[in-house]
Amino acid sequence: MKKVMLVFGTRPEAIKICPLVNELKTRKGIQTVVCVTAQHRQMLDQVLETFNVVPDYDLNIMKDRQTLFDITTAVLNSIKEVLEKEKPDVVLVHGDTSTTFVTALACFYLQLPVGHVEAGLRTYNIYSPYPEEFNREAVSIVSQYNFAPTPLSRQNLLNEGRKAENVYVTGNTVIDAMQHTVREDYTHPELDWVGDGKLIFITAHRRENLGEPMHCMFRAIRRVLDEHPECKAVYPIHMNPLVRQAAEEELGGCDQIHIIEPIEVFDCHNFEARSFLCLTDSGGIQEECPSYGVPVLVMRDTTERPEGVDAGTLKLVGTDEETIYRTFKLLLECEEEYNKMSHACNPYGDGYACERIADILEGKEYSPWIPG
Ligand code: UD1
Ligand code: UDP
Repeated sequence: MKKVMLVFGTRPEAIKICPLVNELKTRKGIQTVVCVTAQHRQMLDQVLETFNVVPDYDLNIMKDRQTLFDITTAVLNSIKEVLEKEKPDVVLVHGDTSTTFVTALACFYLQLPVGHVEAGLRTYNIYSPYPEEFNREAVSIVSQYNFAPTPLSRQNLLNEGRKAENVYVTGNTVIDAMQHTVREDYTHPELDWVGDGKLIFITAHRRENLGEPMHCMFRAIRRVLDEHPECKAVYPIHMNPLVRQAAEEELGGCDQIHIIEPIEVFDCHNFEARSFLCLTDSGGIQEECPSYGVPVLVMRDTTERPEGVDAGTLKLVGTDEETIYRTFKLLLECEEEYNKMSHACNPYGDGYACERIADILEGKEYSPWIPG
């Protein structure tokens, strides 16, 4: 019996790793141990509940307005004991958060094998996204199993000298999570409010965008909304108080925008699927919206998910107010431009990533995901 420990701490890690927890639990050859750092508290618990995952360990590290130093030291100090007690055969981490990096570091210190889910995403700009690019590059150095979501992410790892036999193309587990969420008959009071209007879906939280860039993003959105009364924006806001303050200052009092508390992932996918357009700096949303044919304006200077840009569904608009204003407005006013971006495609997976990862961990044959 192989003991697999999964460690995660934030909302997006949970959304992408809980389906894997549930898949691993069905495997006879695997004993599953779940440890959450709770780098996010409320936003993590919301996802655990949705997927019915009850952690074996909860490090409960979140602090209000935590710094990178806070997260790093809290996870490093508290995970050691859990790893030493459980002595897992492999520790799975996901993506690029501080929880992910620090857990991989702790495994390295204890010489425990690491499996990296969503490996090989890159911008090659260490400050964008910050600190995620550093985190994921560092995790790749110590990982024995690299579960790359796409052929491009595999190629990045090979270019960096990772051994081909340790890199597997599995598809992204978020596509697995999306298989059963969107429903034709889905209703929600916020969608009733939008009615026949155009739903504009907004999220924002990136550390490097806090401060002036975020103010610019919000100002651009507000200017376009003021000119387009047919648009109704829904913005489930991140719990970071700095994000909330900027949103209140720039978007407060605007009747065309509803700023609401974080919604369950089930609701989030249904909102995305019904949107006319999405404006975000989120990573996960760049992977989800292309499946629904919903254009995404990515309010960042770089993306580690160029597959969606190549497919035409994502456009990088940075955080400059004028650029976001002009691009957003153009998509509302020019049908041809909108149609160019609005077509469903699935460059990130086929819904079988968790099965593939579980097969690999059990030592079974696996067939890589091949897009298209
Ligand atoms: C973290 C990750 C980022 C990921 C994002 C997903 C790092 C360094 N950053 O960024 O990669 O894209 O999560 O959302 O790992 N808060 C709450 N309740 C919650 C969650 C957050 O109150 O459930 C507040 C707290 O005040 C917390 C702050 O938000 O201190 C920031 O959380 P933190 O995890 O440090 O950064 P994120 O921006 O969420
Ligand atoms: N999401 C959610 N509720 C919300 C906003 C987002 O469930 O109110 C989901 C979304 O569908 C995606 C993930 O959270 O799967 C993205 O998380 P986030 O933007 O916090 O982090 P990132 O992906 O940028 O790391």
